[in-house]
Amino acid sequence: MQHPPRTGEIVPAVAPTGRRSHLIDFEHYRELYARSIRDPEGFWAEQAESLSWFFKWVNVLDSSFPEGDVGWFSGGRLNVSFNCVDRHLATRSEQAAIIWEADEPGQHRVITYRELKHEVCRIANTLKSAGVMKGDRVVLYMPMIPEVAYTMLACARIGAVHSVVFAGFSAESLRDRIVDCGAKVLVTANEGLRGGRPIPLKAIADKAIQGLHQVHTVFVAKRTEADVPMVSGRDQWLHEAMERERRVCPTEWMAAEDPLFILYTSGSTGKPKGLMHTQAGYLLHASLTHKYIFDYQPGEIYACVADVGWITGHSYIVYGPLCNGATTVMFESTPLYPDPGRYWEVVERLKINVFYTAPTAIRAIAREGDEWVKKYDRSSLRVLGTVGEPINPESWKWYHGVVGEGRCPVVDTWWQTETGGIMISPLAHITDMKPGSATLPFFGVDPVVVDEQGVVQKGNGVSGRLCLRQPWPGMARTVFSDHRRYQDTYYTTYAGYYFTGDGCRRDEDGYYWITGRVDDVINVSGHRIGTAEVESALVANPLVAESAVVGVPHEIKGTGIFAFVVLNREAEGMRPQELEGVLKEEVRKDIGPFAAPDWFLFVEGLPKTRSGKIMRRILRKIGEHEYQELGNLTTLADPGVVDKIIEAHKDLVARN
Ligand code: WTA
Repeated sequence: MQHPPRTGEIVPAVAPTGRRSHLIDFEHYRELYARSIRDPEGFWAEQAESLSWFFKWVNVLDSSFPEGDVGWFSGGRLNVSFNCVDRHLATRSEQAAIIWEADEPGQHRVITYRELKHEVCRIANTLKSAGVMKGDRVVLYMPMIPEVAYTMLACARIGAVHSVVFAGFSAESLRDRIVDCGAKVLVTANEGLRGGRPIPLKAIADKAIQGLHQVHTVFVAKRTEADVPMVSGRDQWLHEAMERERRVCPTEWMAAEDPLFILYTSGSTGKPKGLMHTQAGYLLHASLTHKYIFDYQPGEIYACVADVGWITGHSYIVYGPLCNGATTVMFESTPLYPDPGRYWEVVERLKINVFYTAPTAIRAIAREGDEWVKKYDRSSLRVLGTVGEPINPESWKWYHGVVGEGRCPVVDTWWQTETGGIMISPLAHITDMKPGSATLPFFGVDPVVVDEQGVVQKGNGVSGRLCLRQPWPGMARTVFSDHRRYQDTYYTTYAGYYFTGDGCRRDEDGYYWITGRVDDVINVSGHRIGTAEVESALVANPLVAESAVVGVPHEIKGTGIFAFVVLNREAEGMRPQELEGVLKEEVRKDIGPFAAPDWFLFVEGLPKTRSGKIMRRILRKIGEHEYQELGNLTTLADPGVVDKIIEAHKDLVARN
């Protein structure tokens, strides 16, 4: 949700009650930060000692950052699965590594580090038996069950590259990703379960790979009792295959810059990009941010309730916490199932200390009333976190005041799939907070605010677009099989900088306020969607001649999807509701249910420049009911269309 940037009130950082001194204090943060910018190589070399290496690196940083070519710790070798699992066995083999909270309340399962090691090894051996070798891609299309974490770590163990596809994506989206990354092995489940409803994952996966001979093996985890058709010679139950394997599997000693995973994400144009992250730098960034930002203390229960299909799940359910030997909660359900008290019931039952969620979830629960929160004992909570979109100050205050009883710092963490880990955020108990501001940069992060032309805005009290000036270890290194696209997308808009796509303001105190995307990417309930993807799904339907999709503020989702559609002859005589139904279904089928537009407006024409470019800025304003603030219309080929769209929009509003 966009909110007017302001200097904002200050909520002072407070030391945790009844505990030792913290990791560092604010002065120390300032010093370390200054050092990380002045001498990044020295700073990161020191930090990298926190990982277990097989060989230490030779060069800390190889960088032609302005061209988008960066490598960290070259010459070094390590294994991510060893760092997340094996190295903890000597001290915490019986400690919970993962607590899996199932969809049905009251059911959770504890997996110790010892068990984690066994399961990871058995899956690693299973993958090897299926012919998976170092460098091969494995696609995961799975529900939030422990097997998804085991499989990610199993890939890391043998040097395979995983690509997790969020289980809300359609068969077509899954197929596109499998084809793009050339995976020969797919891991899925018979069904997923969310909010009491089964999701037919295996059936969707079957559809995705129908006729796609590159996929020779499909492993099927058993989440429910549902029987699903198995294709002989191709499909195997995962648990049966695992039973045949040893619980010991050697780790492949990976070069620091070998690929770890590919994660597809939406951009302004074209198909989703397969962002590639590598081993050492990514792991270091994920683990260090997890430790400092949440002030994670050994023995604490940490819960990030994101889905593992997005970067937040990769970095802050799996890799960051496990690298730090934490107990990480995997939450299968939704914030509203079976009722809006679910999160806090889980907090009480599992005695969660650190809780990390998204603004959309906070808004959805806040409006159900405070009783749902107060019903449960939240005294275990120490730190609250938020991620995925700007949090409006009202929601921040509710989270801080009602959920955290004013005791728990709220860390508003700004980052992206591309950045690998958190970039701008308070450090819990150390940084003074301002509701709605992501506050200050993490170590090694050098933010720059530029205006539209790329002129750097110096000093405080400035706004513009957020760029980053210096490489950091967790950054994505490339777009899989298309480095050119990576360079063009991130490094050419503002020469010399990485461009984030976000707008921001740096206030009088040097605090950062992220105002949302300035490109054609929208954040719907924290799910990142390219408007171009939704448009191309709509025009794929023969009823549609043309469409333009924009993001418009939405009370719960933060941003909702507004589709302006010009219809073809074929649609004549169809009622708007009927059309909406058909078109929503089209988007569900092409992308996934979460991308279905919230509002449709059927119009005769779209506002275009004389060169034919759709002026989305105007449509966004109309969607926000700001008819008076459309700006300069003189460049339009036919300014008359705007009045017609406004009339149609007023009609739509009147009808609803
Ligand atoms: C937005 C999610 C404001 C931002 C980790 C970014 C945020 C996009 C915040 C990346 C925040 C994420 N405040 N905006 N705390 N966190 N965003 O790749 O627009 O799914 O560019 O990564 O989410 O979304 P992605």
